[in-house]
Amino acid sequence: MLRVVRQYPALLALCAQVGATLMIAVALYLAAHLSAWRPTWLAVGLVQGLLAALLARYLGLSRWWCALSLLFVPALLMASGAALPSWMFLGGFVLLLLLNWNSFGERVPLYLTGARSRQQLAGVLKGLPPQFRFVDLGCGPAGMLLSLARQFPQARFVGVETAPLSFAIAWLRALLRPNCQVRYENLWRTDLSGFDVVYCFLSPAPMPALWAKACTQMTAGSVLVSNTFEVPGQPADQQIELHDWRKSRLLLWRMRG
Ligand SMILES: C[S@@+](CC[C@H](N)C(=O)[O-])C[C@H]1O[C@@H](n2cnc3c(N)ncnc32)[C@H](O)[C@@H]1O
Repeated sequence: MLRVVRQYPALLALCAQVGATLMIAVALYLAAHLSAWRPTWLAVGLVQGLLAALLARYLGLSRWWCALSLLFVPALLMASGAALPSWMFLGGFVLLLLLNWNSFGERVPLYLTGARSRQQLAGVLKGLPPQFRFVDLGCGPAGMLLSLARQFPQARFVGVETAPLSFAIAWLRALLRPNCQVRYENLWRTDLSGFDVVYCFLSPAPMPALWAKACTQMTAGSVLVSNTFEVPGQPADQQIELHDWRKSRLLLWRMRG
């Protein structure tokens, strides 16, 4: 169960929605029996959204999941009453597709490295010479990459990404960071030999092939860091437990060249 939850924060968001809806249902039931007060559906939806967002935060979900939890039911209520044009639904689908481009072929959806992972990773990077070179394979919208680039101004950061919308967001954000570059590039085409640290947060599916690529291309002394996903049959040299709701950990392999 925990394993499923770790990989699918959407399940926790669903729990937050169900919990908030149950609370609202009880409150409405009591209000109907104890008073003449009858709130509008939109008001009910807004309070439900607020409760769902608070629950999502309590469950440790990231800010962007909390925002989704806040808006989900109010948006549904507004859409059902407002006869929205059908292109909006198509637009929503296309938006999700452009963010999750790699869910189908690579079996890697978009989810983001959490604050604790960033802190621990920064701790690992502090032990390196200041001008190290770092690549994030599948950088998403580059939140983690840019936060590290700010903390380590002398180091060089590269992100590669092929989901079109994530890439566009990441590329635009990186324009403001001279030590950070984002490329529209398939990670399987990225030459890993020029990096001191190779970071990935993907899924179990690509890990065996990624390990083979790392063994061929990474130089002696460089470090492969995988957020959460292990390489079958290759115990990591170091594991950093993150003690979050996802039971995430950073797995580090020091390459022998
Ligand atoms: C789980 S997200 C991690 C995002 C970011 N690295 C972070 O930690 O916040 C994985 C990202 O890898 C991207 N991705 C998956 N397969 C890829 C590939 N073959 N080439 C480039 N990017 C890929 C996905 O589009 C997604 O944005």
